[in-house]
Amino acid sequence: MLDNRKVVFSGVQPSGNLTIGNYLGAIKNFTAFPEEMLRFYCVVDLHAITVRQVPAELRRRTYETLALYIACGLDPEKNCLFVQSQVSGHAELGWILDCYTMFGELSRMTQFKDKSQKHADNINAGLFTYPSLMAADILLYQTDIVPVGIDQKQHLELARNIAERFNGVYGDTFVVPEPYIPETGMKIASLQDPAAKMSKSDPNENAVVRILDDPDTILRKFKRAVTDSGSEVRYDPTEKPGVSNLMTIYSCFTGKTFEEIEREFDGRGYGDFKTAVGEACADALRPVQDEFKRLTADKAYLEEVMKNGAAAATHYARKTLSKVRRKIGFVN
Ligand code: TRP
Repeated sequence: MLDNRKVVFSGVQPSGNLTIGNYLGAIKNFTAFPEEMLRFYCVVDLHAITVRQVPAELRRRTYETLALYIACGLDPEKNCLFVQSQVSGHAELGWILDCYTMFGELSRMTQFKDKSQKHADNINAGLFTYPSLMAADILLYQTDIVPVGIDQKQHLELARNIAERFNGVYGDTFVVPEPYIPETGMKIASLQDPAAKMSKSDPNENAVVRILDDPDTILRKFKRAVTDSGSEVRYDPTEKPGVSNLMTIYSCFTGKTFEEIEREFDGRGYGDFKTAVGEACADALRPVQDEFKRLTADKAYLEEVMKNGAAAATHYARKTLSKVRRKIGFVN
């Protein structure tokens, strides 16, 4: 523990334009933690360079991801919002933890296997050790709870193993973090292939709804969403994966239960339903988009937030690092 508070940490990469999957599965849930907790939300630019980035775009998206945090309701006065590369402790602890992470463990990571297939021309060492840097992000702040999407569960288990291994060798050093994977919205599927996750890098734009898509685009994408045979709006992920995915999205945006949704669309068919999902999504995103536009026009403000966030994060990171250095045997 850093002080007497429980610690929450999560991160989002500034790569690609974020989707409603990132919003419902991650960022929206970040706002749910009470003020008594110490909350760190990081823009993980060090992770983003494991695949090739265009410098100007990386910079722009770093500002945008921070703006999106704030637009989604994270108050920078009450949460520590910061950029990973501005706190050198992440890279430092990342290297140290590399030395307590096994080659075999990293080889088993499904995200590494997926990404090495997708970026076969650039299977760099950073892509491979990505999960130990992620463990460093988390362990640096003595984190208790990590809200993430289900796709990050394996990385979180590795972070726990690394923490336990280090503690086993040197005595209690790190808090062993718990994942927090919310039930609804944890896995929003592609609108074109309900078996696949909605991915920000999907080449088919109709498969993904972006947080910053305008209302017409949102409506059009939902109208084109693949549904299943039959015409009944019923929650059944095995028989009706397409409709069930749309119901999940509708439920997240409106707060309605699946039973309520089934009743609402009883006898009305898919067309009406898809329009309603699109409208609910566009309505819910409108205030976020307005706030985002206001914030991205004010770079000076975002830079102020970054500066304060990095200073606060550095303060806490130093505490953990000095403990780690002492335990390992580094000379101060
Ligand atoms: N790997 C995460 C993702 O792609 C991002 C991430 C990096 C993260 N460091 C983290 C998430 C620490 C939670 C905690 O979504």
